[in-house]
Amino acid sequence: MKGNIRAAVKKEWKMRASVFADKHMKIGNIDPNIYGSFIEHLGRAVYEGIYEPGHPAADGDGFRKDVIALIRELGVTIVRYPGGNFVSGYDWRDGIGKQRKARLDLAWASIESNEFGTDEFMKWCQRAGVAPMLAVNMGTGTPKDALELFEYCNHPSGTYYSDLRRKNASKQPYGVRYWCIGNEMDGEWQICGLDADSYGKKAMQTARMLRWADARKADEEGALQLVVCGSCHCDMPTYPEWDRKVLEHTYEEANLLSMHRYYQYDTSDKHPLEDFLGSADNMSGFIDTVHSTINYVKALKRSRHNVYISFDEWNIWSQKTPRTEPNWIRAPHLLEDVYTLRDAIVFGGLMNALLNHSDVVRCACLAQLVNVIAPIMTEKGGGALRQTIYYPFRYAAKYGRGEAVRAIVDCGSFENKHGRADTLNVSVTHDAATRTVCVFACNYAQSAQDVSLELRSFGELSCAEHVCMCGSDLSAANTFASPEKVTPQACECVPVRDGRAEVKLAPLSWNFLRFTY
Ligand code: AHR
Repeated sequence: MKGNIRAAVKKEWKMRASVFADKHMKIGNIDPNIYGSFIEHLGRAVYEGIYEPGHPAADGDGFRKDVIALIRELGVTIVRYPGGNFVSGYDWRDGIGKQRKARLDLAWASIESNEFGTDEFMKWCQRAGVAPMLAVNMGTGTPKDALELFEYCNHPSGTYYSDLRRKNASKQPYGVRYWCIGNEMDGEWQICGLDADSYGKKAMQTARMLRWADARKADEEGALQLVVCGSCHCDMPTYPEWDRKVLEHTYEEANLLSMHRYYQYDTSDKHPLEDFLGSADNMSGFIDTVHSTINYVKALKRSRHNVYISFDEWNIWSQKTPRTEPNWIRAPHLLEDVYTLRDAIVFGGLMNALLNHSDVVRCACLAQLVNVIAPIMTEKGGGALRQTIYYPFRYAAKYGRGEAVRAIVDCGSFENKHGRADTLNVSVTHDAATRTVCVFACNYAQSAQDVSLELRSFGELSCAEHVCMCGSDLSAANTFASPEKVTPQACECVPVRDGRAEVKLAPLSWNFLRFTY
């Protein structure tokens, strides 16, 4: 009998979850650059994506204004370019001036016309209202190539490359602040990939040259933000040793260590749904380990300098989609994933993992932005579409500002291939400037959850908005025929008394609740 009562109590506890947050339990300031994204010369990201001369919505430079409008609405702050794997075979000189050179792109077995290059990207960034983040080639490229690109972009005048920029495109230097020193150099797929020591040494030499050219030290106000390559994912056999070794070489010159991670709904998994829903917890654990590795090297070096994380590739990517077009064509249809409601719900959890690590994640790039594993899809000569994952990103980028506050969550949990994960995945943000508190909550239980919410010390809160993405068809997606099939739906706002509210979250749902005071 006693046992039965215990079982009943346990069940009750699992049915009613609680979330507690106090204004004073700050995790960190949210760096606006966590709302970054990524454009690679890959498939139709550039050509037919952001750049399509002759399109009815293209401006005089061939930039699609309809796509720019969606990017502005999405709230993207910074865009990484030009790769990705592409950058490891890229000679930036092929993409400037009047004589563009078409080349084989070995990373994606495509033809790169180089019609769009650094100057076009800089102009496009201005139109789209985003900051540029440039990656330099550490595969076929040398530290000298990186320095010369820096000279082209950032040096005012009086040198060969700065004067070339003035002649080609812009009298003003571009002032690019974020520089990625290579891409996924631990990957055996990377053009001229390296072992950790070789990459670490090369990255250190490159970083020093960029610092000397910029004439500011790593910790000075306005200094370049240099990103060195961390492990390209946490299943790499070299992880996390790669990260330690690279940091041991580069620690004093690096500002950020890169992290990359993609998740997928894999129907060959034993429990595909649970395994997919466990992605956010896996991402959190990955960040924690990399953060610990950074702290370890900091201690080893007896350093006062801090290195943060640039999670500059993250998303959901069904890596099983086969290539349907032949090699060696320009702008093939590659990696054009169609995102479902299921994806949006998991995506919201990944976004929460970033917010909940605001103390250490200072930059993040949703990979990618247009057509290639992207929130925005375009048709050649036609329209532009918001995919399901567009929405959790848009709400976070718009309202998830100010600081992230620790959420203490009491709820059930479930087993998945990564370990155990909570059925409630939450982040809480507080923006004193707009007197706004936001709760981003994913219900990963397959039934509705009643949640007791307690938001303490913020003042007299009232609920201004609750929207939810949910539904019985987890495979529902937005298509050009039906572009608004999956969008956030307005829910009734709950009353708040003394910072307490009772909220019901739909089964398998992503929720956004906004409170003001
Ligand atoms: O974003 C697609 C690819 O994924 C990038 O080119 C590469 O860096 C990663 O492996």
